Amino acid sequence: MVGVTQPVPLSEVRALPEARIATGVAELDRVLGGGVVPGSLVLIGGEPGIGKSTLVLQALAHVARSRSALLVTGEESPAQVKARAARLGPGCESIAVLAETRLEVVAAVLEANPPGICAIDSVQTLSSDALDGAPGTPAQVRLVTAELVRIAKTRDIAMILVGQVTKDGGLAGPRLLEHLVDAVVSFEGDDVRALRVLRATKNRFGSTNETGVLEMRADGLTSVEDPSGIYLAEAGERVGSCLFPAIEGSRAVLVEVQALVGPTDIVPPRRVAGGVDRTRLAQVLAVLGRHAGLRLGDQDVFVSVAGGARAPDPAADLAIALALGSAFRGEPLPGPVAAMGEIGLTGALRPVGHAARRLRVAVDHSVARAVTGPLGDAGSADPRPGEVVACTELRDAIRAAFRPREG
Ligand code: TYD
Ligand code: MG
Repeated sequence: MVGVTQPVPLSEVRALPEARIATGVAELDRVLGGGVVPGSLVLIGGEPGIGKSTLVLQALAHVARSRSALLVTGEESPAQVKARAARLGPGCESIAVLAETRLEVVAAVLEANPPGICAIDSVQTLSSDALDGAPGTPAQVRLVTAELVRIAKTRDIAMILVGQVTKDGGLAGPRLLEHLVDAVVSFEGDDVRALRVLRATKNRFGSTNETGVLEMRADGLTSVEDPSGIYLAEAGERVGSCLFPAIEGSRAVLVEVQALVGPTDIVPPRRVAGGVDRTRLAQVLAVLGRHAGLRLGDQDVFVSVAGGARAPDPAADLAIALALGSAFRGEPLPGPVAAMGEIGLTGALRPVGHAARRLRVAVDHSVARAVTGPLGDAGSADPRPGEVVACTELRDAIRAAFRPREG
């Protein structure tokens, strides 16, 4: 007979420990749905330099106040970890550090003395003697993770795995592991700005809609409670810029859609989309040409959402169209202007979901004007009539957006 595992009635199965361990990094807890669950694994993936080691160190420092916290470091020496901890200020002293790359040693330490929380930085640096391959090969990473899953689950350890994602966008490491872990969080941002965005792409214990925004400062990562304020401050009244009230999980966030257009001899001209949907962009361009006299067939077009944010939903169509209109005219919207509305193929605007919440975030941040598709009931919630212009046609919305401000 093979194996001795017997089926058990579900009623006799040991329940997962309910209490989540808050990491104290507010935006990470938001994305995870409250914190890390003991006995589960969270994979945090991101490019080198984005701040993964800083993030886990800050999380461990918080958790270490109430339970044991272990950092397994395969990339850096304990002295390097200490140098980073010094930048973060007091709080890291009680974190235990294990500089080790051999899976068997890490496993023995975890089994002998299971910590409340453990971070592995990074999972690609560990390897097992049982396999010939070098650390970081798919077979190694898979075996290492499977063993860590086993230990975390049997010892009720809250485990955070750091996964390196290569610059060329290859998700080799993290992708391989997605099915093994309970939650996958991607950590992104751009090189120029200090803003970082956390997104859950898988979450067995909560939603995957939530987005966390952090700012990298000299003394570590700071949670940004009101991302709209930061995006808004950077947006200003610029050519090719339009604000869009995006829905990110439980909050509405004003993000900035940026567009640049320029004549080109390349056929077909370039269409580059960052943070917006490529197909939506193509459709918006076609409708602008056909129904609003904005012909960009001989122009390169670049559209992106600033600060690592995203606006993939059709509600962003109108903001994309207005940013393009502004870029093409070389004229800023007299703003800041926020826009929302799905653009149909006929040039008509359609209502968007969560209209009232979107309007609220725009009004709360004192945009000069909100231009929208049909509002229905959401329109009556407008506390300052006159600053919200609801239109049924794209053409009218463009006119309304560019109309000079009074006074
Ligand atoms: P790091 O956490 O090492 O990134 P990763 O582990 O993802 O490779 O940090 C990346 C960058 O952040 C590094 O270039 C230095 C910078 N940094 C700060 O700006 N402030 C800080 O307090 C710390 C610790 C790092
Ligand atoms: Mg690191």
